[in-house]
Amino acid sequence: MRFLIRPDAVAAAQQVADIIAARLRARPTLVLGLATGETMRPFYAALVARHRDGLSFADATSFNLDEYVGMDARDPASFAAYMRAAFLDHVDLPTTRAHLPRGDAPDPTAEAQRYEDAVGRAGGIDLQVLGIGRNGHLGFNEPGSPLDSPTRVTTLAPSTRAANAPGFAPHRTPRQAITMGLGTILAARECVLLATGAAKAAAVAQALEGPPGTHCPATVLQQHPAAIIVLDVAAAADLHQRDDCEAVHPGATLDD
Ligand code: GLP
Repeated sequence: MRFLIRPDAVAAAQQVADIIAARLRARPTLVLGLATGETMRPFYAALVARHRDGLSFADATSFNLDEYVGMDARDPASFAAYMRAAFLDHVDLPTTRAHLPRGDAPDPTAEAQRYEDAVGRAGGIDLQVLGIGRNGHLGFNEPGSPLDSPTRVTTLAPSTRAANAPGFAPHRTPRQAITMGLGTILAARECVLLATGAAKAAAVAQALEGPPGTHCPATVLQQHPAAIIVLDVAAAADLHQRDDCEAVHPGATLDD
């Protein structure tokens, strides 16, 4: 794992956007894995700004990590709506190649398999962007998720439902989601984790320095051969190796 620690959430998000821009320029047909969540908003804003400066997504493909089961893509609370508003409506990535699981599919299990197959047909994910839940989840792979799991239907942990409740009417937070599995994520050729804010510090430390295991799904990143961890100072606060990280990678450039 390579750690890049930036002063604040905006600088960390811009760092991730810089990584995407560099990979996209080197490989315009990049297959991107994308994430949602509040952490990602400044990241998408930075990507849109780079597009306005000339970065093109015209030949790229994207696969989002997850979507709520039962969610119509037109619902403003859907991850599909989030992606349109934050990113897809503002860049030139063709909508036919911007994929999310279909939350309203009549058979969610079959939809999960279809999605896993679609990722495979696209040649796999070149670069997977990830956030992290406070309980260490990746996508909606909650604690207990098998480390080799494929895209599948999962049940949200109570703490995840509570964290995501502000986006929904009272008692309407979905209970299930279709998520890329930890195996799907690990198969990506490169992973970039973005975590910011003090509320993520404990999860970040457990995920990156704690004992690997299903109790903390994000510990799978410890076994990924090409994982970049981008943090702001607040999210890095509980890392024991933090000083080493900063010393080893002071202002590291994208291509080193
Ligand atoms: C969400 C998503 C994850 C995301 C995480 C953190 O529910 N399923 O992909 O990384 O929870 O979200 P936030 O950035 O809002 O803290």
